[in-house]
Amino acid sequence: MEKILITGVSGFLGWNLACRLKDQYRIYGTCLDHQVSIPGVETFAFDLSDWAKIARLCETVDPTAIVHTAAYSNPDFCEIHHKEALTLNTFGTRELAKCANRLGSKLIYTSTDFVFDGKRGDYGEADDPAPISYYGKTKFLGELEITNHCSYYVTLRIGTLYGRGSGIRPNFFEKLEQEALLGKKLPCIVDQYRTFLCVEDAVQAISQFIAGKALKGLFHLGGPDRASRFEFAEKLCAAIGAPAGLVERVRLSDVASAAPRPPDCSLNSNKIKKALELKLSSITEALDRLCGATPRWAP
Ligand SMILES: NC(=O)c1ccc[n+]([C@@H]2O[C@H](COP(=O)([O-])OP(=O)(O)OC[C@H]3O[C@@H](n4cnc5c(N)ncnc54)[C@H](OP(=O)(O)O)[C@@H]3O)[C@@H](O)[C@H]2O)c1
Repeated sequence: MEKILITGVSGFLGWNLACRLKDQYRIYGTCLDHQVSIPGVETFAFDLSDWAKIARLCETVDPTAIVHTAAYSNPDFCEIHHKEALTLNTFGTRELAKCANRLGSKLIYTSTDFVFDGKRGDYGEADDPAPISYYGKTKFLGELEITNHCSYYVTLRIGTLYGRGSGIRPNFFEKLEQEALLGKKLPCIVDQYRTFLCVEDAVQAISQFIAGKALKGLFHLGGPDRASRFEFAEKLCAAIGAPAGLVERVRLSDVASAAPRPPDCSLNSNKIKKALELKLSSITEALDRLCGATPRWAP
């Protein structure tokens, strides 16, 4: 069985990926503060900020591919904690890139739509990044470290993820669903756009990049719909039978946050759609599937 190293297996994406790939590959997964147990997956605590130990980790596992999802992924945390963000998101990535290159392992790095300033939207791979948040900067610098130090890589810039996770860090969809089921109002931004991506579709793409040995380079992956959180929340209400009136309009300028938010980071996914065989779910399709077992809204 081929061996795959997943960094951040206790995270939203890493956990979904490990659960999906564990029957096909021998999976080794790193976590830090949250020990997770996934049957059939070897998980262990490892601090990727401790660069000196990364080479030993990679040499011990000697994987066919490394999927690097671990990151400080909260933009507001990164805006306040520059050193931690740079140490993990950029320099940890650099060390992994060097090791992957030495071992001949394929490195798949999950980057973000936050590398763009969001002034235009519909960003393709040829568009120049111009991050406005520290998180976006550290992730973009991570991309540069990879191109500088590793020749066999996929950099996958993804849109905002939603779906079911391990429960460790509920994502925005799970939080909205919980609040809606309690009958609470859902204040959501109307003038900030994303191509929200169902986590299952991100997993689908990454598993094809692992299997497709010849596939490498930079790819964008967003969901098929460009939408605001307001529009997303209205669709969620429809999926669970809650009244759309629960969703309240908020403007981006009304929300105080440590990190600036790009107004339109929607991604153009034409390149990846040509390279892979993907069936991407619209928000409505994905929510109907995800909320199939959710109790119907009852006031
Ligand atoms: N979620 C999104 O909407 C989104 C959108 C675009 C791009 N991305 C990118 O996709 C990737 C996955 O995102 P996600 O939402 O799954 O992230 P997440 O849920 O926040 O998980 C982050 C993971 O990183 C681990 N980690 C944190 N600090 C670490 C350290 N010093 N050493 C080792 N591991 C450490 C965490 O471990 P513990 O929990 O055990 O501490 C956790 O497993 C990230 O690279 C992110 O930048 C995410």
